[in-house]
Amino acid sequence: MDKILLIDDDEGLIHFLSRFFQRKGYAVTSCLNGGDAVNKISENSFDLILLDYKMPGLNGIETLRRIKAGHVKTPVIIMTAYGNTDLAIEAMKCGAYDYLVKPFEREELSRIVFDALAVNRQMKEVVFLPDSTEAIPTSPDKHPLKIIGNSKKMQEVYKIVGQIAEKDVPVLITGESGTGKELVAKAIYHHSSRKDKPFIPINCAAIPENLVESELFGYERGAFTGAERTHIGKIERCNSGTCFMDEIGDMAPSLQAKLLRVLQEGEIERLGGNRTVGVDVRIIAATNKDLDREVREGRFREDLYWRLKVISLNLPPLRKRIEDIDALVKYFLFRFSEEYNKPVHHISESALKRFYSYSWPGNVRELENCVRRAVLLCSGNIVTQEHLLLLESKDEYLLQKMNREQLIERIKDKLEDIIPEVLSISKQDIHSNIIEIVEDTLITKALEECGNNQVQAAKMLGISRNTLRHRMKRLAVKRSPLLL
Ligand SMILES: Nc1ncnc2c1ncn2[C@@H]1O[C@H](COP(=O)(O)OP(=O)(O)OP(=O)(O)O)[C@@H](O)[C@H]1O
Ligand SMILES: [Mg+2]
Repeated sequence: MDKILLIDDDEGLIHFLSRFFQRKGYAVTSCLNGGDAVNKISENSFDLILLDYKMPGLNGIETLRRIKAGHVKTPVIIMTAYGNTDLAIEAMKCGAYDYLVKPFEREELSRIVFDALAVNRQMKEVVFLPDSTEAIPTSPDKHPLKIIGNSKKMQEVYKIVGQIAEKDVPVLITGESGTGKELVAKAIYHHSSRKDKPFIPINCAAIPENLVESELFGYERGAFTGAERTHIGKIERCNSGTCFMDEIGDMAPSLQAKLLRVLQEGEIERLGGNRTVGVDVRIIAATNKDLDREVREGRFREDLYWRLKVISLNLPPLRKRIEDIDALVKYFLFRFSEEYNKPVHHISESALKRFYSYSWPGNVRELENCVRRAVLLCSGNIVTQEHLLLLESKDEYLLQKMNREQLIERIKDKLEDIIPEVLSISKQDIHSNIIEIVEDTLITKALEECGNNQVQAAKMLGISRNTLRHRMKRLAVKRSPLLL
């Protein structure tokens, strides 16, 4: 249950707000002045604070400064009377999350509170690295998140995360869907010097295009019909914090230019405004698109790409680090057996084997969901192949459905792995050497497939029988023990 602290000298408003939030299922505490509130905050933790601007004794800004001096992450919403919006924006510079103008509509109150509580959850969701020496807290309702996997490829990732987390530089995280980009972004935030400041995720693909600009950069009062008050955009709200820009490859070019300005100049302009506002945000961007290609094809600005790419982290797909599967399965078994209160702690050898041979197109997310499903379906305490039935058929289904583009991607992936090895053997005649390897493998497989029937194999390969014979001769010569 989220806990809200109300601070206002107006008892009527406190009464109204308390009832409003209690009805929505929140736990409410209230204070009539700033001093009491600061004491309460030092003794209890809250998920959201609503703070009046004008109060006798400590005013809103002074109270806010004291709260922030105690490294409290909880978002604070400043409440102010109409006409004081400039002061409220000033308060945001001191670390307030947003502001509400009194008298406010219930709808607006709900929206702002809902947003702030979501940000609070994100900020407090700590992600630990595998070799973390920090004590990992246990909470009764939620396990802390941990990045699992000690494969060489993942160790390289942790090494870079360790090297750059505290440096105030932008980071670009790439990798297929489900490889853990968001998890890594949160780990970087948690290990950075900005960990007490906001962490605001923005999914560039999820916000409707006509709203993206105002969501990100805000707008001035009167910027368009219905813009009744100055709206602070997410980037400005994130001032001094970390902004996680997910699916950056989907950002419209006009906004890319504005983001570049944030990175280069540290400034933005609200929509409909003509003054520049200074912002200091660390950008962590993520995408599962091939940004190189997006740049080549003119959909992504090259200058922004270079700016973001200074530190880039590529998360390997699960099929390229199958040695992590064991630890991931154990981790998810542990989590889900606790979550669903079922004593499923083991996995049969054959089920694990199946995991190793599967290609995991949905990466760790798919594995996580597969283990979740298995725990739910399992009636004993061991997950067996039977609980993975869906997975089995899905594998075949995927192979059939896998479109040409995905297939080419997979072949490219594999080639990328082996080409450096071929190059390390010889740097001459690369083209013919590689083509020969591919051709030989194809011919061997086709012959196997057709029970050594050359007519069928030639047909399958789409080459003449003569060409097949010729190639087979070449193969036989290569395999001849006389040459060894
Ligand atoms: N190494 C890991 N250890 C533990 N859990 C992981 C790991 N990698 C990913 N996960 C889990 O897998 C799920 C997907 O991860 P995440 O959302 O970070 O992926 P993503 O790369 O951002 O995917 P998408 O491109 O689809 O947004 C999450 O539930 C996350 O906690
Ligand atoms: Mg993601």
